[in-house]
Amino acid sequence: MSRFLILVVVFLFCVASSYAANDVNLQDLCKQTKYPSFCLTLLKSKPRNVGGDLVSLARYSIDVLNTNASATVTLIKKLIAESRGVPKKQAHYKDCLDHFGEDGILGDLLETRLLLKSSDYQGVNIHMAGVMTNVDDCLSGYSSDTSLLPKYANDVNQVADIILIIAAILLKK
Ligand SMILES: *[C@@H]1O[C@H](CO)[C@@H](O)[C@H](O)[C@H]1NC(C)=O
Repeated sequence: MSRFLILVVVFLFCVASSYAANDVNLQDLCKQTKYPSFCLTLLKSKPRNVGGDLVSLARYSIDVLNTNASATVTLIKKLIAESRGVPKKQAHYKDCLDHFGEDGILGDLLETRLLLKSSDYQGVNIHMAGVMTNVDDCLSGYSSDTSLLPKYANDVNQVADIILIIAAILLKK
């Protein structure tokens, strides 16, 4: 009986939360980003337990960005090891590690979580612009990079753009 009740409560909660009044129209939101179809795919694939309001979507996107940036750092470390003996290339990857690591993007993301928690949307916005600058600074250092790094970095850029737009909308509210 009690298990049945829990199921009913959980079911009602899911129904209620999927029709929450403050749910964002994802089409409208993603239209404002630089890469609308990437944005739609990402936000539509959010887990069910993530709310559909702007703050929940921002929090979820920051988690995705953190995973993306961590994967990029892992890749960069591998590329640094592989480019031993090719100083110019290795210097480029070491430079990218600075831009993506704790002193760069990963550090920015830690702060961004706190800023979102304290509803400092201007701060979130500034930090996402900082992430995108770090990505550009890394990529512009070496135009003939044929590794997976440009693709990984591009994912980071696109997710940062989504968070930047969400923060801009929250700021206007
Ligand atoms: C970034 O995250 C998205 C969504 O989870 C995923 O599809 C994409 O493959 C990730 N990219 C990298 C480089 O980890």
